[in-house]
Amino acid sequence: MSSMLITGGTGLLGRSLSGILEEGLVPHQIASRKKPLGGADWTRLDLTTGEGLAEAVAGKRIIFHLASATQNPNPKADVEGTKRLLDAAASHGVSHFIYISIVGIDRVPLKYYKIKLAAEQEIIRSGVPYSILRATQFHEFVDFMLGRFLRFPVGVLPKKALVQPVETRAVAWKLLQLSKGAPLNAIVEMGGPEVLTLGEMASTWLDARRKSKWIVNLPPLNATTKALAAGGLTTPENSMECLTWVDWLREKYGVREEFLF
Ligand SMILES: NC(=O)c1ccc[n+]([C@@H]2O[C@H](COP(=O)([O-])OP(=O)(O)OC[C@H]3O[C@@H](n4cnc5c(N)ncnc54)[C@H](OP(=O)(O)O)[C@@H]3O)[C@@H](O)[C@H]2O)c1
Repeated sequence: MSSMLITGGTGLLGRSLSGILEEGLVPHQIASRKKPLGGADWTRLDLTTGEGLAEAVAGKRIIFHLASATQNPNPKADVEGTKRLLDAAASHGVSHFIYISIVGIDRVPLKYYKIKLAAEQEIIRSGVPYSILRATQFHEFVDFMLGRFLRFPVGVLPKKALVQPVETRAVAWKLLQLSKGAPLNAIVEMGGPEVLTLGEMASTWLDARRKSKWIVNLPPLNATTKALAAGGLTTPENSMECLTWVDWLREKYGVREEFLF
């Protein structure tokens, strides 16, 4: 039986981490509510109810806790669920609990971030040896958010917001690296290779998708947009070499025809 568990192993980051482990033939089990496609070692776990918790944690030494109600922020899944997972981890002697968090959750007053902060506090208080990695936004997430913000003929965006997008696979690698060392019992941060304004990112995103759109700037007037413009989501001193936003766009959307000879 595998001694490594990935909660949220079917999600964006979880699939990336599981993929890296598969490439290295490292046995691991993934836990989520829905069964993944393919033949991965999987166990059903619902953090909101605790269903499947004991089976998921039994025999595990390392837990990568990546599961989160990202679509519909819910403290029952993220805070109470993390607490349940920690209780089970403590009683089964888990030696390293590795949690993925987000850079700036203590600076940007969003509901989801308050939930992530409360989950971090549960981990810190639990007595279970831990490492917390706060990462910046994944390229896929910014791509998704721009798709939502710019779905109408005229888009509205806080153009001055600063973002430091990162390659998901680089975050998965960092988690793996953490698992190879002793628990830090501390929070560390990582961000992508460059800090960009959301306005710049929107412009290259539209270019890559061969679209143009009129974008109205949402000025930094409330606490959230002010914190975003002040760089609340960024960590320039912890930037990591990996795919840049433009490189990622090129991989996803291909090269524009006018750049081809
Ligand atoms: N996306 C970003 O830009 C970003 C940046 C920094 C940090 N993070 C953090 O990284 C983590 C993963 O993000 P992601 O973008 O990979 O998320 P995602 O694609 O939405 O995946 C979420 C995962 O959580 C599982 N899950 C949700 N509710 C659950 C529940 N009640 N019980 C058990 N499993 C549950 C989902 O599986 P089922 O639905 O099958 O249960 C899925 O595997 C999150 O903690 C997020 O806060 C994300």
